[in-house]
Amino acid sequence: MWFKVKLSCVRRFQAARSYNEFEQRRLLCYSIVVNKLFRLGVLGSGKGSNFAAIADAIDAGKMSAQVGVVLSDVESAGILAHAREREMASQFIPPGKFRTKLDEGAERAFVAALQEARVDLIVLAGFMRVLKGEFLRAFEGRIVNIHPSLLPSFPGLEAWKQALDHGVKVTGCTVHFVDAGVDAGPIIGQQAVPVLDNDTPESLHARIHAAEHELYPKCVAAIARGEISVAGRRVSWKKS
Ligand code: GRF
Repeated sequence: MWFKVKLSCVRRFQAARSYNEFEQRRLLCYSIVVNKLFRLGVLGSGKGSNFAAIADAIDAGKMSAQVGVVLSDVESAGILAHAREREMASQFIPPGKFRTKLDEGAERAFVAALQEARVDLIVLAGFMRVLKGEFLRAFEGRIVNIHPSLLPSFPGLEAWKQALDHGVKVTGCTVHFVDAGVDAGPIIGQQAVPVLDNDTPESLHARIHAAEHELYPKCVAAIARGEISVAGRRVSWKKS
């Protein structure tokens, strides 16, 4: 069984069509083939309930991974408190002068902290800044995000409110790879949530949040097992 996992990894690695794809697969395959525990770098700006769901899945043995470091751009963020409670490495990094992105110095500091922690995958869990140039290049193909709608519908802020205002009957959440667009990268997994006639933005958001806590650990666990492959925009799940 373990041999089969190794073999499927090496095949995917060899089939890469560009240098970036090759490098991305090499890094992912390395941690799987040498039987090293897959390391996550988690970034968040808020409560951290998705991070807690992932950490719970690891504790429950549902995900073969470990958290290398938790980083936040908000000193008082709940996600840092969660990490401290669990005695995990965590750090606040001041984001610099912009409101919606990191400035150059902050971007370098985030990249350095993640490299120092030797993480295999960057997990955005409510990180409220758009990632740019150097960061995306440093971890190309190795950054995932969760968004509270069924993308490509309702990218951007308050997606649950956008869905309610638009009058859709079904919304949900999406886990996707991160690229230079906003909420735009290849889709790894989605979970639907019905919109009820008496929903308020708060009640709908709460049900989407609960769905996120199921979906995100499943997607990250599949990546950690080496079961996820990407061809253009299409992501497939392969059983090892
Ligand atoms: C989630 O709703 C997620 O979809 C969005 O930010 C929120 C983070 O919530 N990207 P939490 O901090 O994980 O509770």
